Amino acid sequence: MILLKNKQYYYWNEKSVSAWIKYNNDMNYKFENISKILFENISLKKNQSILDIGCGTGQTSYTAKKKVGVNGTITAIDISTPLLNLFKKKYKNIKNLTCLKKDIQKTRFKENIFDHAISRFGVMFFEYPLLAFTHTNQALKKNGTFTFVCWRNFRCNQFFTIPANSVKKRTKIDIPEFNNKPGPFSLKDKSYIQTLLKKSGFRKIIIDNIITKLKLSKIKTETDIMMRIGVGAGMIRENKIDKNTYDIIKRDVNNKLQKLFKKQDYYNAYIYRVTAIK
Ligand SMILES: C[S@@+](CC[C@H](N)C(=O)[O-])C[C@H]1O[C@@H](n2cnc3c(N)ncnc32)[C@H](O)[C@@H]1O
Repeated sequence: MILLKNKQYYYWNEKSVSAWIKYNNDMNYKFENISKILFENISLKKNQSILDIGCGTGQTSYTAKKKVGVNGTITAIDISTPLLNLFKKKYKNIKNLTCLKKDIQKTRFKENIFDHAISRFGVMFFEYPLLAFTHTNQALKKNGTFTFVCWRNFRCNQFFTIPANSVKKRTKIDIPEFNNKPGPFSLKDKSYIQTLLKKSGFRKIIIDNIITKLKLSKIKTETDIMMRIGVGAGMIRENKIDKNTYDIIKRDVNNKLQKLFKKQDYYNAYIYRVTAIK
């Protein structure tokens, strides 16, 4: 097993990942519309072979499995042992739905073996995205498709702005700059995605701007999630904020959510759906 032991590896394998386990059902509920958007553009057929990149606990792998039927195969890969353990627990009795601990940047599958590659928010965390996409291309059959969704714009995504603005307001810590480094917004620039995919051998690249809604759980759960997952949570973690300030930020987030919930029962979400052909 070859893995890059970098910042991302530690994030997805250490204490920081525990929130993704605890709130797994809530996050999957939140991303229900995102999954629909991902799958409505892929023509999955019975018996096909699918690669799910950065599969996490396997929600999209399982959806794909239902579409390709008993003899279709899903190979789901991720670098996170805790998330893969939950994947195995959830889907242990399902044949031909396999998850593997692999870093796509370091993994060369046999060439021409998958009909489709998919990812729901699993492709923004690469230090070497060109390698990751080249490996994806090589593993696809001729005319195979690669479809993924990624975040488009920090400022329009309330799930990220609400807590990050609270942290900034209460601590004066700046919201990090979003560039091409690994992180939720590393693929925010369309031209960068185009270049990466072209260079890795893809053609017919289509990048759809999509505005959708993230579904919400209860205010308390939403507040807890925002304090542990996303940009604001990263600012808290990386700056070692004291307990008192943490509680103030949490109250601030909670108040904002109370106001938001009076108006709407969703977060505005701006994403790209990207489709490319080998
Ligand atoms: C935001 S989560 C999305 C998980 C899942 N696709 C979902 O929608 O629930 C990003 C996932 O990408 C995985 N990941 C990050 N870098 C990776 C890499 N180099 N190779 C494979 N998976 C990676 C993480 O471990 C994490 O599970």
